[in-house]
Amino acid sequence: MSRIASEIFDVDGRIAIVTGASSGIGENMVRTLAAGGMRVIAAARRLDRLETLASTMAGVVPMRCDVTNEDDLKALVAAAYEQFGRLDVVINNAGKSDAPVKAEEETAAEFAAVIDVNLNSCFLLARTAAAAMIEHATPGSIINIASVHSFVSSAPNNQAAYVASKTGLIGLTRELSGQWSRHNIRVNCIAPGYFPTELTDSMMGEDSSGYGYITKRTPMRRPGRLEELDGALLLLASDASTYMTGQTVVVDGGWTMQ
Ligand SMILES: NC(=O)c1ccc[n+]([C@@H]2O[C@H](COP(=O)([O-])OP(=O)(O)OC[C@H]3O[C@@H](n4cnc5c(N)ncnc54)[C@H](OP(=O)(O)O)[C@@H]3O)[C@@H](O)[C@H]2O)c1
Repeated sequence: MSRIASEIFDVDGRIAIVTGASSGIGENMVRTLAAGGMRVIAAARRLDRLETLASTMAGVVPMRCDVTNEDDLKALVAAAYEQFGRLDVVINNAGKSDAPVKAEEETAAEFAAVIDVNLNSCFLLARTAAAAMIEHATPGSIINIASVHSFVSSAPNNQAAYVASKTGLIGLTRELSGQWSRHNIRVNCIAPGYFPTELTDSMMGEDSSGYGYITKRTPMRRPGRLEELDGALLLLASDASTYMTGQTVVVDGGWTMQ
């Protein structure tokens, strides 16, 4: 039986958690999933921004959450089951970068703060969500937002913690996918190239050296547009990817193929 694209990528009625939903890639992902009929718990520290988002989109539930606080992460999973009775998709998107600094001058605290947000929190939320999915015997899709810097250094930007965290996330994804495959819980990554968000704001002015760095290094000669992540997102959130796990979908204008 052949199916049409809207059936293959259908996410209508599913329940998701998206961290880092108050801006940039996370906010765009919430919009895309909610537009597809999903109900989305949108999590971040800036609750006012989440509430504004929820006021413009049906199906968005704003929840204040600091991803470095395990109780906050547990509350997201609990809210999914209390409000909707299940959880289908978890997107570990919240992230930060270290200020560019030579590694020999980066403090242990600066390094650890990035690892805490970009890697430790992903493990903790994935673990809590998977435990609930296993208990309820339901399938799930966990999507970790990695980076081109999961594969290549940040040179010349000097961001050791960011690169370490995003590279670790690929390994974590493989390991968790192996452990949870038998429960039909898939764990995959999306690895974006450079996209205009608060994180990359200083690199997006067309006259800035950062913009020159992006356009020179990207074979497609431009940053990505946020909506260019929608295809990878819907692939991994829908039944289009029911036999994919432990993988990374790279959306980078060719950055890592050189
Ligand atoms: N933009 C790019 O070019 C690019 C490329 C590759 C990968 N990425 C990855 O994409 C993800 C999203 O980044 P973005 O580019 O969209 O940047 P962004 O606009 O700065 O968004 C970062 C998000 O993370 C949240 N966040 C940060 N620390 C948090 C914490 N302790 N607890 C809860 N939420 C926290 C922020 O919300 P609050 O401040 O409200 O908490 C915000 O919603 C990150 O993992 C980033 O590494 C981005």
